[in-house]
Amino acid sequence: MAIITCVEDLRLLAKKRVPKAFYDYADSGSYTESTYRANSDDLAAIKLRQRVAINVDQRSTRTTMIGQDVTMPVAIAPTGLTGMQWANGEMLGAIAAEKFGVPFTLSTMSICSIEDVASVTTKPFWFQLYVMRDRGFIRELIQRAKTAKCSALMLTLDLQILGQRHKDVKNGMSVPPKLTLANVIDLATKPAWAMRALFGRKTFGNLAGHVKGSKNIITLSEWTASQFDPTLSWDDVAWIKQEWGGKLILKGILDAEDARLAVTAGADAIVVSNHGGRQLDGAMSSITALPAIVDAVGHQTEVWFDGGIRTGQDILKATALGAKGSLVGRAFLYGLGAMGEAGVSKMLDILHKELDVSMALTGTKDIRQVGLHTLVSDPIFK
Ligand code: GLV
Repeated sequence: MAIITCVEDLRLLAKKRVPKAFYDYADSGSYTESTYRANSDDLAAIKLRQRVAINVDQRSTRTTMIGQDVTMPVAIAPTGLTGMQWANGEMLGAIAAEKFGVPFTLSTMSICSIEDVASVTTKPFWFQLYVMRDRGFIRELIQRAKTAKCSALMLTLDLQILGQRHKDVKNGMSVPPKLTLANVIDLATKPAWAMRALFGRKTFGNLAGHVKGSKNIITLSEWTASQFDPTLSWDDVAWIKQEWGGKLILKGILDAEDARLAVTAGADAIVVSNHGGRQLDGAMSSITALPAIVDAVGHQTEVWFDGGIRTGQDILKATALGAKGSLVGRAFLYGLGAMGEAGVSKMLDILHKELDVSMALTGTKDIRQVGLHTLVSDPIFK
């Protein structure tokens, strides 16, 4: 195998190793994918400010996110169906994140359950929640997250209905995979994945007992259409905050007015996000939305960011624009799909090294000193 030097290498490897339906699920945006592309294009357009002759020996990327120590200001984003990229992927991802010293967020729509992840970790992880119609089920999930000692609840606000990803519809993507001719042919070329899948978790671990339908095979679009609550309002956020009682992260904020409402709702952190370009196609890129939100609420709550991060340079740019943390979703899935736990560790390692070197070349010793002065000022952000 060729030497892996960057996240793009992991992506290419994952593409070879993961069944097409699941690779496509991870690697697509909604509709025309314009927002999906804008997330990385707009990050690439930002220029870092090269500085020289500054002593940058002994650097540190260490900081905190909602009071938790982190090796670098990065957390693993909640991603759906992760255990379909590599068997038991959520457990492996959580182990790798814990070893590296960054938080892991488990999605409601995960394959491994809250209890599975708790059973293989020694430090608290975070749990991501959707607002579903069945409030009793939400209460049950919150209770399970408390029992598992999750240290934060991340509530996703931008997916009360699902933006269509064309490839998922075309691939007939479901969990577990339907044995259509196309899927069987595809699986025949991925025997290692299939072998691991035989021994791994195969359905949505957190939804046991809540999935109805033939043989428990469900698609994300069926589940969201039937379960997610389109009436979601700030009153629901208040109710969830009260039920949970711990640190609350609100994810999916792209507008300064919503950011102010999130602060009023008592968010300990907000994630500036367009769901990786998977929801409102035509929305602005996350990085373009970040500065106005930092201006509006950065003095009141922690503002985090996700969308398009593939390199440590991207993390540095987001940090410079005021993000106290960056979430990585696709980079995580590429690492996992490429090499399981080792791939997630590799991905974190790559991002960390790139971040560290880029900090040095901008004349920065400590990530906490990064700011707008780390960037070449650019009129598109004025
Ligand atoms: C779920 O969160 C998805 O974006 O598919």
